[in-house]
Amino acid sequence: MGNAVRRIGVLTSGGDAPGMNSAIRAVARTCVSRGIECVGIRRGFTGLINGDATMLDYAKVSGLSRMGGTMLYSARSDEFRTEAGIQKALNTCKLLGLDGIVGIGGDGTFRGLHDLSKHGIAVVGVPGTIDNDIACSSYTIGYDTACNTAVECIDRLRDTMQSHERCSVVEVMGHRAGHLALYVGLACGATAVLIPEKEVDFEADVIEPIRRARLVGTTHYMVIVAEGVGSSYDVAQRIRDEVALDTRVTVLGHIQRGGAPSARDRVNAAHMGYSAVTLLAEGKSDRVVCRQNDQYLDYDIDEALSMKKGIDEDKYTVMRTLIGQGT
Ligand code: F6P
Repeated sequence: MGNAVRRIGVLTSGGDAPGMNSAIRAVARTCVSRGIECVGIRRGFTGLINGDATMLDYAKVSGLSRMGGTMLYSARSDEFRTEAGIQKALNTCKLLGLDGIVGIGGDGTFRGLHDLSKHGIAVVGVPGTIDNDIACSSYTIGYDTACNTAVECIDRLRDTMQSHERCSVVEVMGHRAGHLALYVGLACGATAVLIPEKEVDFEADVIEPIRRARLVGTTHYMVIVAEGVGSSYDVAQRIRDEVALDTRVTVLGHIQRGGAPSARDRVNAAHMGYSAVTLLAEGKSDRVVCRQNDQYLDYDIDEALSMKKGIDEDKYTVMRTLIGQGT
């Protein structure tokens, strides 16, 4: 593609994440500085199918860094998973004269981009999801803010749990992954943390830590459950049944996806958005921008999608050690 890049589309897809707006701003502003036109595609791949687009110039993305959500809206498109849907999206690319597309989202977004690239559209993915479940990247846009939001909520819960000497069971998001739950549990000094990557031994992982805490004088307890583990209401019921504690469930839910992005999310989003446009301008395609060992790199999308992301075993060991479960 080289110097031929004149117009780039940018879209956000899947679950939104704080910092997506910062990434949109970075894509648009990097385009401006390179003399490339930037087109915002609304509602993810649904918008690409329907030709739902707006020009993004320097002024249109002003003040966007600090805003939560995504100004381009987000969606999950079933139609885009069909050949007919992809054909409509390709027609939109031709109609709008798009030389490339930057897609901000998670695995599903990257799969969609890869499908477009198989039809000759230049694409680059930017990892944006609170789940931090993109294997090639140690960090995804929105994760830091979501962790901080969850920690703030749990600190508030602690106050009332402490007053009433209760046990709190808090369900955090993360889809099928436990990264968010583990990080938040560690930050909050939880009594127990349950994540889908590790088989749960209820007696050893929940009941014994509660008993140990009680024996050293603790009168309130904080159990963090990743949504991928199963029902937090079942966890609470077993705690009631086995140790007769007054237990309350809080499902943090979508509150974790909202709010102004943290400085870390804004800065990483800025760099990743910049990198995505730079890659397209250099003629690269079918890549995912990622972060590894304090560096911004890029991966082939297919390779990135085939990688598996395990839990951070060091953090898991620290968490278990601090809870008193040994290593
Ligand atoms: O992928 C982000 C995420 O928030 C997951 O943590 C959660 O499982 C899912 O999206 C919720 O999706 P929806 O907003 O469609 O309910």
